[in-house]
Amino acid sequence: MMDVGRHPRIQLFTHSEVETVTGFVGNFHVTVRKKARYVDETACNACNECVAVCPVAVPDAYQQGFSSRKAIYMPFPQAVPSSYLIDMDACLGNNPIACGKCADVCEKHCIDYDAKDEIVPLEVGAVIVATGVEVYDPTEYDEYGYTRYENVITSMEFERLICAGGPTAGHFVRPSDEQRPLRVGFIQCVGSRSLSPKGNPYCSNICCMNTVKDTLLLADHYPDVESTVYYMDIRAFGKGFEDLYRRSKEAGVRYLRGLPGHVREDPASRNLVVTVEDTNTGHRLEEEQDLIVLACGVIPRQNGGNVKHLLNLSQTADGFFMESHPKLKPVDAPSRGVFFAGCAEFPKDVKDSVTQAGAAASRAGILLSTGKVTIEAITPVIDTEFCTQCGICAKVCPYGAIRPPDARTGRYPEVIEAACSGCGTCAAECPMDVIAMRHFSDAQILGQIDALLEDHPEEKVLAFACNWCSYPGADLAGTNRSQYPAHARLVRTMCSGRVDEDFILHALMRGAAMVLVSGCHFADCHYINAVTWTQKRIEKLWNRLDRLGIRPERVQMEWISAAQGTKFASVMAELDRLRRTVTPEEIEAAKTILAAEFEKKAERLRKQRARMKSQREKEEVDVA
Ligand code: FES
Repeated sequence: MMDVGRHPRIQLFTHSEVETVTGFVGNFHVTVRKKARYVDETACNACNECVAVCPVAVPDAYQQGFSSRKAIYMPFPQAVPSSYLIDMDACLGNNPIACGKCADVCEKHCIDYDAKDEIVPLEVGAVIVATGVEVYDPTEYDEYGYTRYENVITSMEFERLICAGGPTAGHFVRPSDEQRPLRVGFIQCVGSRSLSPKGNPYCSNICCMNTVKDTLLLADHYPDVESTVYYMDIRAFGKGFEDLYRRSKEAGVRYLRGLPGHVREDPASRNLVVTVEDTNTGHRLEEEQDLIVLACGVIPRQNGGNVKHLLNLSQTADGFFMESHPKLKPVDAPSRGVFFAGCAEFPKDVKDSVTQAGAAASRAGILLSTGKVTIEAITPVIDTEFCTQCGICAKVCPYGAIRPPDARTGRYPEVIEAACSGCGTCAAECPMDVIAMRHFSDAQILGQIDALLEDHPEEKVLAFACNWCSYPGADLAGTNRSQYPAHARLVRTMCSGRVDEDFILHALMRGAAMVLVSGCHFADCHYINAVTWTQKRIEKLWNRLDRLGIRPERVQMEWISAAQGTKFASVMAELDRLRRTVTPEEIEAAKTILAAEFEKKAERLRKQRARMKSQREKEEVDVA
């Protein structure tokens, strides 16, 4: 961090927050709130005089609350800039009459109680999101007694206790009596790999090796300490990790396969009694430990939602940010020009975080040094002649890639091509049908539907499958040799968001017995939240079909991932079963109803366009 702080081409903002991000790749406009430090960082030489006189002591978050800090403080020893700041929530000097001691002793006159936050505007070409993670709070694991017993601590608290710069200057003592523990139990997977309502289902990736490292540290520095690790399995998959694990076992650390069910404290000795089943032997054991360390997992940053909205990002069901493509673009966000580094995207150890940070910096560097963005020709084109400036296209665009129209100034919606990824949701939602996609155009898709339903349409199940999940899912069903009925016909679209209501109605009008709209699972849509518009559209369509007297069941919606070949096969089998319930009379009736509906729509658009044209001509005459 010091190197970064000293680098002539890096501007470092600490104690700051990004407030707004607008624009798009190559042209992001960012505003940063530089929070007031109340100490002039350029003049402060960290002499410590102010800290010595400050009368306020609050728990020190950096030391995990094991020691206190003053209201004027340095966040941690290597902080950049190396100067103090005032915690105004704790400071008495905010009202100088009450205190003001730090200002009195500061010879350099660095203290300014009236300092204000500063808003810094920035123009940047690329953004790297490196928001990290938070440590899981084990409070809900009440059976381990974290909130009740002082000698049950988290792995993060253990780090501080054993650190030379920690609250005990590296002397390893337990919190209740400051005696050195001789028996330490580590409980793994606290808050990770849990399918119960407590904790999270994912593996936090770092806890196993962190515990192995901690046991080795204890073995090296305190050979008389007996360490026991309670685990379900040890994941030592990185380079050199298995070797560390073996060394830990050779150093005498006991690995007991089984997660404790319960921890209780002996009130007299303050020792902890662990009840655990050794799953290797099937024996239930009660073991006494002097200190218990909970190997807590990690969770996504709790304020990640702000960053998500600022940058139009999507999150997985676990709450981590989702990359554009796990194999092809693993460090790119779905929004062009935004990249991920470290645990923002998923829990990683230091080595993987550094590797990803390097990759993200390179991706951003390539973008900036090229100076141009190459886009695929899959973007929309808006025919402004008959656009009513309703703004729906801008509202539904997951990337904010359509500049909204403004009827007062006469501005029409405008596609920012560099920001558009071509999902086609705008084209599907446009009520005036004035948005044409350059690829996967209406004509191409309608042509495919016509061709697929040319013969015996009443025997067909027409499935719209998104390029990223459902279509590969169908492919997988094929390569896995999963059997599904031969009546299925697939139309590929980039995203399920592209499936215009008219495509479905057209298929039914052409006599298809069943139509399926399938796309990625909600958190997996490759176009951020485009799939939510698919769902809303289909739900609206079901109501419309009902009103028209067409069985809504004939249109189905399913979320199928690329790995769910079996699901694709079973969905198609179910649709085929439904197909056999659709009678020829139903199909014929629907064809007539929908032909009339299309005629009505064409008539409405014709009239509306004629009205717009004459209105425009009138305005031109008035101006002339
Ligand atoms: Fe598959 Fe959006 S990309 S539904």
